[in-house]
Amino acid sequence: MSKKEQLMVNDKYVLKNEADITISDDDFDKFREYFYRKTGIMFDQSKRYFVDRRLIERIKATGHNGFKSYFIFLRFESSGKELQNLINILTVNETYFFREEYQFKCMVNRMLPEIISRKRSGDIIRIWSVPAATGEEPYSIAIYLLEYWKDIDKWDVEIIASDIDTNVLENAKKGIYAERSVQNLPRSIIQKYFKFIGNGYYQICDELRNSVEFTRVNIIDTKETKRYRGFDIVFCRNLLIYFDDLSRKIAVENLFDSMNPGGFICLGHSESMSRISPIFKIRKFPEAIVYQKPLEDDK
Ligand SMILES: C[S@@+](CC[C@H](N)C(=O)[O-])C[C@H]1O[C@@H](n2cnc3c(N)ncnc32)[C@H](O)[C@@H]1O
Repeated sequence: MSKKEQLMVNDKYVLKNEADITISDDDFDKFREYFYRKTGIMFDQSKRYFVDRRLIERIKATGHNGFKSYFIFLRFESSGKELQNLINILTVNETYFFREEYQFKCMVNRMLPEIISRKRSGDIIRIWSVPAATGEEPYSIAIYLLEYWKDIDKWDVEIIASDIDTNVLENAKKGIYAERSVQNLPRSIIQKYFKFIGNGYYQICDELRNSVEFTRVNIIDTKETKRYRGFDIVFCRNLLIYFDDLSRKIAVENLFDSMNPGGFICLGHSESMSRISPIFKIRKFPEAIVYQKPLEDDK
């Protein structure tokens, strides 16, 4: 390539097409509509800069010279790999241990006693953390059960943790966390369930890492969520805020189908089921307001 086809940027020559890549209003609209249909996530104009930067990053990484050819490639790539790359850089994965701890208290004090009153010995209790992001939520559930649920020795509990972002799931399986993630945990719990691995990082103990199963799930894809059934408790926190009304409704109906009658679901503190769907009953416990799939007798 001759110098003529290159451009000076920050004292360095870069390929002209890389420096020139821009996302027009029309490109942004096309892309956000496509991404919304695939994930349920709706980007408004306030996210424009965030989305544009990441799109340009992927256009460059895949060797395309602009949005148009990249967008054709994205839509027609049958493996879905590039869509997954985009999902991994466009989702917001903020989470930490013992976030909204009052719901974990409610789980051990209220939800689990009700659930086991309907179970027979030998039955399994199934808990779903979706979305789980980097794993702090499902590991918090496991810690809470071990530390604060007096009946833990009498029941088998399965914890499934799912997310649409495959990078966060890989990190969750490794279970390595910076100080910021564990700052809400009592020191005694850090000492008991983590080992300090240096440079301000902690790794969760093998026993807990092996107690959670991590899977990739798109919560608005009914074909995918169909594989998940029989949950007694679902934690679906701080995801629905990224959705519009339609994808919230689809997500909530998929979760409803994945739960046992009488099962409980917890949303994030700024998310309210009443504005989404009437299919769940509201349960007001002293610790938290949660939602319940009606029992057969309630109908
Ligand atoms: C802010 S985190 C919430 C993590 C945790 N539940 C909490 O409250 O701390 C939101 C997560 O939702 C995931 N997510 C976004 N769209 C999703 C979808 N359609 N299906 C499943 N997970 C999704 C993102 O990848 C991200 O990890």
